Amino acid sequence: MQKNILIIPGDGIGPEVTACGKAVLEEVAARYGYAFAFEEAQMGHEAILATGVALPDETFEKAKASDAILFGAVGHVRYDNDPTLKVRPEQGLFRMRKELGLYANIRPVILFDELLDASSLKPEIVKGTDILFFRELTGGAYFGEKVRSEDGEMASDLMVYHRYEVERIAVKAFEAARTRRKKVCSVDKANVLESSRLWREVVQQVARRYPDVETTHMLADNTAMQLIKHPTWFDVIVTENLFGDILTDETAQVVGSMGMLASASIGDGTGFFEPIHGSAYDIAGQDKANPLASILSAALLLEIGFGMKEAAKQVNDAVARVLKAGYRTSDISGRMGHKDKIVGTREMGALVIQSLREQL
Ligand code: NAD
Ligand code: IPM
Ligand code: MN
Repeated sequence: MQKNILIIPGDGIGPEVTACGKAVLEEVAARYGYAFAFEEAQMGHEAILATGVALPDETFEKAKASDAILFGAVGHVRYDNDPTLKVRPEQGLFRMRKELGLYANIRPVILFDELLDASSLKPEIVKGTDILFFRELTGGAYFGEKVRSEDGEMASDLMVYHRYEVERIAVKAFEAARTRRKKVCSVDKANVLESSRLWREVVQQVARRYPDVETTHMLADNTAMQLIKHPTWFDVIVTENLFGDILTDETAQVVGSMGMLASASIGDGTGFFEPIHGSAYDIAGQDKANPLASILSAALLLEIGFGMKEAAKQVNDAVARVLKAGYRTSDISGRMGHKDKIVGTREMGALVIQSLREQL
């Protein structure tokens, strides 16, 4: 049966990396005889320029009607430099996440053995890192009431959680842990925040239904430290929206680069697949961006979105082979950089496809 995939390239390096993710999906379709139909739509800064809003209704309707979405990134220096602008690219993501009900943001943090020396940390610390983050994505300070006083002197973002929101993401994390090393670490600030005390209470209740899973609760500040002290200790981490955002960027350095981290945002309908990195306009348009996070997001789309586990594994294996052959974008060139074959975005994408075709 035909699967409709919506491609939303977005801003900055978004279009460059998403072209590679899409090309990999096309190659997979050709190899396995899948019928994938692609459509494209706008979001972010480019959508604001064209329509005045970050997520035009047309894009949202296409998103709802599709079977999966492969997204690049949004964001532009104009808005980052001017906090007074009211229409902002990131608003597109928020509407998409909320209205598609994408409450579970799954972020695998896996170190490819070939990238041992690309990490900022010592190889013996990071070797074997394999963490699965469940970041709650439709609650917390991102979506609570936002206030700016009339005189402009006060601002607040309310961090709100409801019991059902914590419960459903916790269940997803515990279910996943059962298929892995059976450990869940729930991260909060229960020593400070009321919303975290609710979080911990609910996670403790859910944990009782999973006696075979070892549960720990860790404060977010300590977690930030433990993640770089012994990342291999962690299996599944479940946490609220903002902590998950920050901690996963931190782990990019454990596994080498932001350009290596993919994600799947899921809820009850269409899944949304994207790298965790942003529009990286410092390197946009220079063929420098690492497309592997987009390619690995395409693999998550196959695996989680469509249940095509074998095809997803082939994509992951193809990436590993390209890395093993010594090819690197500059962000993952290691301490022994002189040995690396440095390539640009397009060549890295082409190598993964070649690897899929010929088992490089
Ligand atoms: P960023 O992730 O865009 O970049 C952080 C650093 O990592 C930069 O030095 C960048 O060059 C590097 N980097 C990121 N992705 C890379 C890749 N694929 N290959 C090589 N290097 C890579 O974060 P930022 O600079 O804080 O944000 C830039 C803009 O992106 C902001 O406007 C922000 O709002 C937006 N943003 C969007 C998303 C998203 O759309 N999901 C995520 C994060 C940030
Ligand atoms: C991410 C990004 C977004 C977030 C921004 C762009 C709104 O950093 O997807 O991790 O904070 O959720
Ligand atoms: Mn982020």
